[in-house]
Amino acid sequence: MLPKATTKLYGLIGTPIDHSFSPSMHNKAFETLDIDGCYLAFDTDKEDLEKTVAALKQLGARGWNVTMPLKSEIVNYCDYLSPEAKLIGAVNTVVNDNGILTGYSTDGIGFFRNAKENDVIVKDKNILLLGAGGAARSIAAQAVLEDVKKLTIYNRTLEKALELKEDLSEEAKKRGVMIEAKALEDKESLRKDLLDSDLFINATSVGMSPDDKESIIEEADIPDNIVVADIVYTPNKTQLEKIAEKKNLKILDGLGMVLWQGAYAFNLWTQADFPVELIKKEVFKIDTK
Ligand code: ATR
Repeated sequence: MLPKATTKLYGLIGTPIDHSFSPSMHNKAFETLDIDGCYLAFDTDKEDLEKTVAALKQLGARGWNVTMPLKSEIVNYCDYLSPEAKLIGAVNTVVNDNGILTGYSTDGIGFFRNAKENDVIVKDKNILLLGAGGAARSIAAQAVLEDVKKLTIYNRTLEKALELKEDLSEEAKKRGVMIEAKALEDKESLRKDLLDSDLFINATSVGMSPDDKESIIEEADIPDNIVVADIVYTPNKTQLEKIAEKKNLKILDGLGMVLWQGAYAFNLWTQADFPVELIKKEVFKIDTK
């Protein structure tokens, strides 16, 4: 449907945003579901954030996504935060209820929803997470909220893994979730922990195009009975996923998380179910059937 006088505004703020799939995803969903909305990208840096948030409120925008470098900064403008956003101090989705802003972090929720859709249930399981950047933090927080048994975080920069562990420690203790933080260079320990894990998640950027021949871990180190998840979705099939496929392991791909984080944001704004399969096919041109 073409925009009209009653059309509600939605958007994405951050910089750079030219490459984002979000406008295509959400506008396609509006069109498919016949929802009177329009999603636009607004290039915004830290200095402009206050003015942009004021403008979006003034224009009555129903909600917006927030990307780099504003995910932490936007917290200061939110009246309320969801549990996972509070845990990590970062927001990627804002809902505007008549000027009252609530912030959510849907990457982690999206990741685990995609897992569930693929029959991977993580409650009481051991999760090994590589990375401690923005996406990894959101996944780690949600892993705690999903009541996993143990979360082991490896990162190239150990301090960031320790900081993440510290941020989650109170909630983890309350829920009886064990958390460990280790340095990625400790390969011996990584190999041992992998043997004891049910789900391995690459939440680093290693393997992303143009460095798509790289894999964060070697084939020999991947056990035979583990689920392998990679949040990288360009290329479509990462080197890590190729290795996992060769070993006949169950795989959770990065596109699933992208789709489901968008699906959650869309649902928070509109209460409608995002047409995940159609978006996969029409926007990402991936035919799953
Ligand atoms: P995103 O928002 O996509 O998570 P990010 O916050 O920049 O991106 O985080 C990137 C993650 O990939 C970090 O965990 C980073 O490790 P450092 O914290 O040590 O920087 C990890 N990463 C990037 N390149 C890496 C590499 N070559 N080897 C190992 N880890 C890498």
